[in-house]
Amino acid sequence: MSLDADLPVIAVIGGTGKEGKGLAYRWSQAGYRVIIGSRSAEKAAATAEELQQLLASGGAASGMPNLEAATMSTVVVLTVPYEAHSEILKSIRPAMHGKLLLDATVPLQAGKPTRVLMPAAGSAAQEARRILGEGSEVAAAFHTISHDHLFKNDPIDCDVLVTGTSSEARAQALRLVTAAGLRGWDSGPLENSSVSEGLTSVLIHINKKYGTRHAGIRITGADQD
Ligand SMILES: NC(=O)c1ccc[n+]([C@@H]2O[C@H](COP(=O)([O-])OP(=O)(O)OC[C@H]3O[C@@H](n4cnc5c(N)ncnc54)[C@H](OP(=O)(O)O)[C@@H]3O)[C@@H](O)[C@H]2O)c1
Repeated sequence: MSLDADLPVIAVIGGTGKEGKGLAYRWSQAGYRVIIGSRSAEKAAATAEELQQLLASGGAASGMPNLEAATMSTVVVLTVPYEAHSEILKSIRPAMHGKLLLDATVPLQAGKPTRVLMPAAGSAAQEARRILGEGSEVAAAFHTISHDHLFKNDPIDCDVLVTGTSSEARAQALRLVTAAGLRGWDSGPLENSSVSEGLTSVLIHINKKYGTRHAGIRITGADQD
């Protein structure tokens, strides 16, 4: 699909990494203008160039340092290791007023991906809310979606739980979930993000235990039509 100028511009902070690059690929394919954010301008530009090569019908990916990427966008997606989460948030805070942060970060224990350790704030997304303050909305999503799926154009057999600081924040995040080719569920206030963040380590454990890379979750007994 070619670029749709009416859609929000998405910055993916950590977009040079596995999860962020996969999401950027899917949104670019859906016609969104995507800006890859990185601590390094060169790395951001190289990833954007890589995405451009992959995109069948044009697309519009560019790369910039994190703060610049956040400044130039209307929605900021965060996909960084938990160890870097608060430092990166503080670095982009000046650009976040009035914007939505969509946080996919999971507070996995360093070196132990089958274990999650929630911070004192309750979850990584709630910590993001504390750092950014009331001037920004925060939603949390994509914790159950492995990067492994995102570069394949096949349907992904896994749902996305979306939590957020307001129903509008969740609705905005759900539109991005749908644009990425996934089924999302409004899963309530940001406090519930501890549940969805916690599912990542459960799925990683199941993958290891049962010798797969594709463990996922589905919500049953509810209808979206
Ligand atoms: N991978 C998955 O399948 C998956 C699924 C669900 C959720 N998540 C979550 O998404 C987040 C990103 O995961 P990932 O697998 O994409 O990680 P990754 O491949 O290691 O990439 C993360 C990116 O974060 C940036 N970054 C910023 N500060 C960093 C630091 N101090 N150390 C290392 N990288 C830093 C790096 O970009 P620059 O160097 O360009 O700044 C890097 O490319 C994690 O919180 C993870 O738990 C991942």
